[in-house]
Amino acid sequence: METNGSDTNLRHTQSPAIRRRIILFPMPFQGHINPMLQLANILHTQGFEITIIHTEYNSPNHSNYPHFTFNSISDRLSEIENHLPMKANAEALYFVKYLNISCVDPFRGCLAGLLEKYGEGSIGCLITDAGFYFTQAVAESLKLPRMVLRTSSVSCVLAWGVLPFFPENNYFNLTKEDPNYESSAPEFPVIKFKDVAKMTTNPDGMRNYVTNMISHMKASSGLIWNTFKELEEPSLETIVQQFSVPSFALGPFHKYFPASSSSLIEQDKTVLQWLDTQSPKSVIYISFGSIAHITESEFQEIAHGLANSGFPFLWVVRPGIVSCSNWLESLPEKFLESVGDRGRIVKWAPQQEVLANPATGCFWTHCGWNSTLESICEGVPMICSPCFGDQPIDARYVSDVWKIGVYLEDGFDRVEIKMAIKRVMMDEEMRERINSFKEKVNSSLEEGGSSHQSLKRLVDYILSFCN
Ligand code: UDX
Repeated sequence: METNGSDTNLRHTQSPAIRRRIILFPMPFQGHINPMLQLANILHTQGFEITIIHTEYNSPNHSNYPHFTFNSISDRLSEIENHLPMKANAEALYFVKYLNISCVDPFRGCLAGLLEKYGEGSIGCLITDAGFYFTQAVAESLKLPRMVLRTSSVSCVLAWGVLPFFPENNYFNLTKEDPNYESSAPEFPVIKFKDVAKMTTNPDGMRNYVTNMISHMKASSGLIWNTFKELEEPSLETIVQQFSVPSFALGPFHKYFPASSSSLIEQDKTVLQWLDTQSPKSVIYISFGSIAHITESEFQEIAHGLANSGFPFLWVVRPGIVSCSNWLESLPEKFLESVGDRGRIVKWAPQQEVLANPATGCFWTHCGWNSTLESICEGVPMICSPCFGDQPIDARYVSDVWKIGVYLEDGFDRVEIKMAIKRVMMDEEMRERINSFKEKVNSSLEEGGSSHQSLKRLVDYILSFCN
């Protein structure tokens, strides 16, 4: 697969004499660790020294990054051990809120220690995940500029910023019977009420999280986005107007460095040999990322849909994705015998390599932002089954705005699934549209392209803190 890691365009622009250190702090979830460590690698190629602070939970593998220094901090998650691993989509908010409290003292102690160790003038800035909003106050108290990495789409932050997350307004518990269910939300018309209802079962908790995240993004020294201008230009323009701090869209990060080295679960690479035996654009790849959960009946509808589609498939069934089962116990009877060699099921796949394989014809995804970007970069059209959070927003953009996928809007039903698979596999115009984005991604990363320019601006901006 193509990566730009050794691209001379991205090589060091600083002389060794002015190398500065950047401290980065990712949220401990796969979809957040990947882009933060990719960003760290990108900044390292620009001449910065890198220190990563991380929680004990989901610690990155230090040996994959001998060029970084790591500091682990206590997260006190062991005190709520019964809640690990997460068993339901709604628990993610609970974890994030807990970490924003439990990490304050350990993080402050660690950061103060690093400032003392390296000397104040040698640290350019702190870059933390937008979800770690508590770090803004810590950075201010230590007089260190904090920049924010937001790992979702820009459009997601805009939508969340205007949607009224008030339990009493009924946006979040609309059912199919409600006359507004299919209508656009007036605050953000790209999104339908039915999408909003999927975002959370805890609107109060979501309001608290979104309000904190956005207000501390606005108070930061700047925003870094894993997106590219050609994909989200109108949203980026609005963000620049609404947030009076500089914004830098230099993604997709994984095009500089693949995510495999930050994978928390071992990737089953044997699937690549199997893919090599399949016809071009014939295989459906199915994965719902690292934290989404589905019910047993949804799992079974997926299995029936795949069996009935007739296409070969590679299905990532993460252990625990169905809360009540360990792995494959909930498959319909005789499913494995009936699909035979046409189907492969694994616990975790080398996703970027799978998407880049010529045999992959479609990606049935939960629309996590990393998965969405990775699919766009390889020109693979999508079937969208968002589970929670930012995913329903990404699904709506994929299907209605960019028109590069089909949204299974009404959940998992074997008949709808079979139709969606057929449509995505056969729709040549959809494939052309996503291939055109793929070309735009590549141009944006070349010398003079939008992401390349944004990276240069970001480097200059961070260096300006050091003067
Ligand atoms: C989480 C949220 O759920 C998501 O909505 C948000 O946008 C980012 O944080 P996650 O659900 O894990 O992320 O999904 P996603 O953003 O798609 O990230 C998953 C990452 O894991 C991708 O980089 C993907 O390449 C990788 N992956 C996934 C694998 O390496 N192997 C797999 O089998 C599946």
